[in-house]
Amino acid sequence: MFEASSPIGIFDSGMGGLTVAKAVTQQLPSESIVYFGDTAHAPWGDKSVAAIQAYAVKICDILLHQHCKLILIACNSASAVAYDLVKEYVGHRVTVIDVVNPMVDYLATHYSKKRVGLIGTQQTVGSDIYGKKIQQRGIAIRFNALATPLLVPLIESGERNPKVIEEVIKSYLLSPQLQNIDALVLGCTHYPLIKDQINAFYSGQTAVIDATEMVAKAVKNQLQAQDLLASAGQLPQRTFYSSDYTQAFSALARRFFDEPVRLERYALWD
Ligand code: DGL
Repeated sequence: MFEASSPIGIFDSGMGGLTVAKAVTQQLPSESIVYFGDTAHAPWGDKSVAAIQAYAVKICDILLHQHCKLILIACNSASAVAYDLVKEYVGHRVTVIDVVNPMVDYLATHYSKKRVGLIGTQQTVGSDIYGKKIQQRGIAIRFNALATPLLVPLIESGERNPKVIEEVIKSYLLSPQLQNIDALVLGCTHYPLIKDQINAFYSGQTAVIDATEMVAKAVKNQLQAQDLLASAGQLPQRTFYSSDYTQAFSALARRFFDEPVRLERYALWD
């Protein structure tokens, strides 16, 4: 059985999930978190379904071993191709939340009858997870998605030259699939890190939506429903594991979470 003081487990291929972890700690400042970034295997978005599923399941074992009271898949690619498997694997022991369903809920309430575009990894777009869920739920949205595989490696590399990033963003966003849209969904948890540049491209004419806050709210609601919210006075512990040491990952973890963070290397397989 879990205690309210147990940590929330969050994982991603690398540093993208830190954007979600940050939103979780902003909404739930007393919660402890254990974050796992699989930097040794990032990017996940162009790996096979079997590989992503194997990484996800292995990381869930690690998070359960750390007594996490909830597991948050802070990655669209894994949410797209491994959520059902992860739920089957650990769902009887712990609640699992993904990043796709909260976004689909949001689109249903805010973008009915509108035109929505999405950018994401090859796996997320190839799986058509958003399109399928939109259709299954009968949401009247004109939806189109584009795979933008160069963005995650650029972000993970810590690329600082704004011109390089701007050029790549521009060439993707000018694609025919993404014309005349009312909103662009950032269908990858890495993309909030370049949201300013994406907003600059649209000059405020198109809404740019990311899932970080809606996912944090879903986590809060779930913990509340299970009476597992950490008590207000609890001093949170934040632990960050990465399967490979990368400068960009540790710099971002330190920048996002001002207090001294515990950063450790944790190999997925020895
Ligand atoms: N941030 C993840 C996502 O939302 C993974 C991206 C990747 O590693 O390719 O899809």
